Amino acid sequence: MRESRAIVLEGLSRLEYRGYDSAGFACIDPEDNRLMYAKAEGKLSRLVAQLQEHPIDGFAGIGHTRWSTHGASSEQNAHPHFDCHKQISVIHNGIIENHHELKRQLESEGHHFHSQTDTETIAHLFEVVLARTPILSDAIAQLVTHFQGAYAFVSLLQEHPDVIVAVRKRSPLCIGIGEGQMFVASDMLAFAGKVPKVLFMPDESFALVRKEGIELYAFDGTPLPIMIQDVDVTWDLYEKQDHEHFMLKEIYEQKAAIHDTVDFLHSVKDRVWDDIGVTAQHIRDLSSMNLIGCGTSWHAGYIAQFFFEAICMIPTQLHLGSEFRYLPFFPSDNSLFIAISQSGETADTLEAIRMVQAHSVPTVALTNVSSSTMVREADGFLLTQAGREIAVASTKAFSTQLTALYWLAHRIAYEKKIISAEQLERAQEDLLVAAEVLENSIENYKLQIIKELAPRYARYRKMLFLGRHSSYPFAMEAALKLKEIAYIFATAYPAGELKHGPLALIDTDIPVIIFSHQESLLYQKLLVNAQEVKARGGHIVAFAFEGQQELIELADVVFVISRVKPLLGPLAMTGLMQFFFYAIAKELDRPIDKPRNLAKSVTVE
Ligand code: F6R
Repeated sequence: MRESRAIVLEGLSRLEYRGYDSAGFACIDPEDNRLMYAKAEGKLSRLVAQLQEHPIDGFAGIGHTRWSTHGASSEQNAHPHFDCHKQISVIHNGIIENHHELKRQLESEGHHFHSQTDTETIAHLFEVVLARTPILSDAIAQLVTHFQGAYAFVSLLQEHPDVIVAVRKRSPLCIGIGEGQMFVASDMLAFAGKVPKVLFMPDESFALVRKEGIELYAFDGTPLPIMIQDVDVTWDLYEKQDHEHFMLKEIYEQKAAIHDTVDFLHSVKDRVWDDIGVTAQHIRDLSSMNLIGCGTSWHAGYIAQFFFEAICMIPTQLHLGSEFRYLPFFPSDNSLFIAISQSGETADTLEAIRMVQAHSVPTVALTNVSSSTMVREADGFLLTQAGREIAVASTKAFSTQLTALYWLAHRIAYEKKIISAEQLERAQEDLLVAAEVLENSIENYKLQIIKELAPRYARYRKMLFLGRHSSYPFAMEAALKLKEIAYIFATAYPAGELKHGPLALIDTDIPVIIFSHQESLLYQKLLVNAQEVKARGGHIVAFAFEGQQELIELADVVFVISRVKPLLGPLAMTGLMQFFFYAIAKELDRPIDKPRNLAKSVTVE
């Protein structure tokens, strides 16, 4: 039977969000039992076209889309990689940290490498151990003793054409189990709807997957029981509908996503502590909070720090996922650790959860993906209801994270008897008002942005973003959006820091984007900073709130946003900010949904 190609390519298209620098496929020719492969630089569509021109197919196949870690995004570095005799093929996620050492050793033993990847060392070392230890499971148990790092890899071997080898350490890997059909993937979305059951491979385990069954082993070679679960995710083909990009569609979905998130949270309000795996007493005793995330999710956490401190009066510490493990962590008994992640897969955030669990502090994953690793590994979870986010730049995930965190701050305050049930209800209404403002602001300025402002600002190569209090992390999020989709350099500063250095940057080539705040003291201070920019001949684009007349008059371009609860100012400005930068990126003809060098889900540290 020659049918793996179509299945593998479909699975890859579902997982392309994990990387799109290059793609590859390998299978075993059913006629002469030879390993065959195809690779292409760039997006999956190029591999598909190549395979249409030069078709190969087989009973078992493996495929990969790459987000480059070691070596350029070339065809040569695309997976699969091979041993010297091209009889062992390997695809791999994660990083083999000691690959330099291993490569040096293998080269000194006569192995020839064809790529700059760490992955290729796996294939060559597999060749070495198999020559010594012909029993496959014994060979793999030996193989894994050589590797340092977090990784998941899958291998297809010419000598064992009926087996797919799957190996997992910290990086996700699961096996879809059907009738005479098996799938191995880093995310069960790859086979959702095709098989009813899934085995999430335990950490530090490997599997020999055959059509008729699975053998599962711990890294030391002892057999493990196979714990099967139902596949509870579905795959729907997501369409852009009338929108030119998924990002635009997702910007417009935010109002509905905030509504869905509020409705959901309201529906779980009485059982929420059970859901997140803590007791009501633990919440009543809470004396500190920890928030962690990366990128946009970290910005959501930064804004939420203001929620938790102002609404429930709990000192809140914010951590950056990628820094956390290298800094001291001071656990306290009465603490809660919330990991914020759209995908629930970000390696840095996941590692932090694992480290915190060792300190007996309860961990909660606030994520958008119910089937994610964080949901399985954290002590409890709370789901945002953004729906699938396809564009690499996060939009509706961010606004629903803010929504859920604002709600959670109120729910904790209610549990601690700081606010009443009515105030909790009102917080929900305030969120819906902010959602309304988020959408209306886009409508109010859409035409002006498309016709006048996007062409004008697309000409600049750098921008400076300013905010104060919660509008500072919002400025950071805005700068990130502009950088990643328009490739325009942008940096965010707390406005009060301007005079300590960045003021030197002000000239006519660097627009200054100011995000206002509704609290009058903060607004007054921001106004002073805006005047400092103007006094030096600077050019200001202001996101102001209704009634902030001085700022409105001072700015060269102004967007006026309706007033909302002050802490929800960033949420109200979100849609317009995203739309403005989306329009600039479109003007520059950038590949908005898949910006260069990025991936939707970052599963390496
Ligand atoms: C930016 C963006 C990234 C992610 C970051 C964390 O638009 O999407 O910065 O926010 O990679 O990803 P998650 O939220 O999946 O943990």
